[in-house]
Amino acid sequence: MQIEWTAGPEAFAARAAAHVVDCLAQIDAPAIALPTGMTPVGLYQQLLALQAAGEVDLSAGHYFNLDEYVGISQTDSHSFAAFLGRYFLDESLIPADHIRLLQGDAPDILAEARAHDAAVAARGGLDFAILGLGGNGHIAFNEPGVAWTEGTHIVPLTEETRAANAAYFEDGFTVPGEGVTMGVGMLRGARRILLMVSGAAKADALARLLAGKTDPAWPVTALCGHPDLIVIADEALRPA
Ligand code: PGA
Repeated sequence: MQIEWTAGPEAFAARAAAHVVDCLAQIDAPAIALPTGMTPVGLYQQLLALQAAGEVDLSAGHYFNLDEYVGISQTDSHSFAAFLGRYFLDESLIPADHIRLLQGDAPDILAEARAHDAAVAARGGLDFAILGLGGNGHIAFNEPGVAWTEGTHIVPLTEETRAANAAYFEDGFTVPGEGVTMGVGMLRGARRILLMVSGAAKADALARLLAGKTDPAWPVTALCGHPDLIVIADEALRPA
């Protein structure tokens, strides 16, 4: 594990962006998994700015989202697909055929999960998985106790996660009880993982990872021992 402690949101986002730029420079047409949430917003802004400055060509990559709410369409502003559009993809100049986003309202959600797996497999698996971290240790929508062997699968969302996500919206949106998410097995199979950890609410989960012992109650600990794990975290979270 390589850990980078950063001071302030600009430095946090800049380090993350540098890793994405490296990935695009080093790997031909990399398959990249993208997170939703407030943590990566600065990263997305920096990538767009770097591209505008001619320092990266985002269209060289192939992009997949990590997760989505079950039952929510991509055109619904609450969807993760809409979030990624708003903060990154719409302005990114990435061609549509380089982007696959989960369709949360697919009539057959299991078939949709399999199709996501097949699309990633067709690119040779994930080269680079960018992850946020839940306060309860979740990665993507893999909540405590979830199996660690899965590809894309359907999962119940904890009340903690539903409440945390409802806070993004002021319109009374009821967060669905289920998500569809790349599983821990699939994420662990990514050749490189970038875990972004920001905010005091993540301190316990980060400490579990740093302790280096796998624990099913803390899904992030599934990443212990990964051969190419990069963690970027707030300096304030550095253990004394
Ligand atoms: P956040 O969410 O980036 O909004 O903190 C991260 C997560 O729950 O995975």
